[in-house]
Amino acid sequence: MSDLHVAIIMDGNGRWAKNRGKKRTEGHKVGSEVVRDITTFASQHKDIAQLTLYAFSTENWKRPKLEVDFLMKLLADYLESEKETYLKNGVRFKAIGDRSRFSKRLQKAITQLEEDTENETSLIQNLALNYGGKDEIVRAVKKLQISGDEVSEESIEQSLDLPTAVDILIRTGGDHRVSNFLLWQSAYAELFFLDTLWPDFKKDDLSRVLNQFQGIERRFGGVEDE
Ligand code: IPE
Ligand code: IPE
Ligand code: MG
Repeated sequence: MSDLHVAIIMDGNGRWAKNRGKKRTEGHKVGSEVVRDITTFASQHKDIAQLTLYAFSTENWKRPKLEVDFLMKLLADYLESEKETYLKNGVRFKAIGDRSRFSKRLQKAITQLEEDTENETSLIQNLALNYGGKDEIVRAVKKLQISGDEVSEESIEQSLDLPTAVDILIRTGGDHRVSNFLLWQSAYAELFFLDTLWPDFKKDDLSRVLNQFQGIERRFGGVEDE
């Protein structure tokens, strides 16, 4: 297979920092460096076509203001400074989620990087920002209400921020839940829950998951091939 869609719930930044006697925000900083490394690896991997990363959920606004502010600044700094890396690796950037709640600066950084990388073809990196699977489905259905199009699986799917089914869903950080990520797209995803905290996640961890995935027979509700 050469067109895999890999999605990752990048969890465990806070615990990684706490384990080292550091502030949670330090974990987010190191976590953003891992995003760069894993995206580069995925762009060079012949089997991966899309990499979707959960960076900020619709529920993450509940966190202390200082942490939310830090994350917003980290995101804007990252998107504003990484253009060359995206272009060098042939990575097309797209944001999914409701960006309307972000500052003007962050919204501009998102749109700018989307535009600057729109012709890149080695990998699509979707960054989930103020993203919730439920919110995405509600926004999709509202679009259909406005257009008057018939409600069907196909029309809902095409109205989502991301209309591509997930093949591999990874969560780092030891918890076994999906926390409102890609609810529709993960209907038949293979799930991998790793104890590794996101700042410790390495390309070898992703390679191991890909190898395991190759050995799985996906039936999609059908029966095993004879
Ligand atoms: C994931 O790490 C990053 C975001 C949600 C922004 P956490 O910040 O949730 O780290 P833990 O789960 O508290 O260790
Ligand atoms: C999921 O992690 C969201 C992101 C990784 C961006 P959380 O840390 O927010 O999830 P819960 O609260 O443990 O379910
Ligand atoms: Mg967490």
